[in-house]
Amino acid sequence: MDGPSGSGKSSVSRGVARALGLRYLDTGAMYRAMTWWMLRQGVDLADPDAIAARCAEPAVVPGTDPDGPTIRVDDVDVAGPIRESEVTGAVSVVAAVPEVRTRLVALQREIIGEGDIVVEGRDIGTVVWPDAAVKVYLTASAEARARRRSAELTGSTVEAQQAAMARRDTLDSTRKTDPLSMAAGAVELDTTPLTLEEVIGEVLRLVKERT
Ligand code: DC
Repeated sequence: MDGPSGSGKSSVSRGVARALGLRYLDTGAMYRAMTWWMLRQGVDLADPDAIAARCAEPAVVPGTDPDGPTIRVDDVDVAGPIRESEVTGAVSVVAAVPEVRTRLVALQREIIGEGDIVVEGRDIGTVVWPDAAVKVYLTASAEARARRRSAELTGSTVEAQQAAMARRDTLDSTRKTDPLSMAAGAVELDTTPLTLEEVIGEVLRLVKERT
């Protein structure tokens, strides 16, 4: 399940995993956890070489239960801190460093290799697991995506969200290594006019059709 922020990937992926009794992996949380660790270590995020030099150090361990996704770094629970604005504002920079991606993609493949899983991210169908049985690319209008995100966060206006998301989307789509793009064989689903239940239903229908 790939797509830009606010397209509904997390809610849809978790809902589909729950409905089918599958595991769930949030790869964005892994990039956020790496970013949290870099910030805590005081690594200069303006220096990609400094990020690359340290990125093998933290143990990033995501849980795979769709009912209670967890993420730990060096055995510290970072599920809360990785959603804060400091990490959200810096994650695109860290995720653009090729060495970071090589390391986290390897971890993701280990987890996915155990099978029976719904995985959400930006490059799952293109890079991480091109042989996935079902590939979905979720989209939604910029306004709908900003509205959903600001409903999740307190103290954030739709306009401020839309500007911050546009900035992050540009960084994620234009970076050199594994940019956000639709995979060959993916089904594009525009969630703008749909409810969460309708999107989950559509994905479940695709899964049934394709597997
Ligand atoms: O889905 P999210 O907002 O939690 O993702 C956080 C950031 O991580 C996002 O700005 C892009 C990056 N990311 C990535 O580069 N590749 C992935 N597979 C998942 C996320």
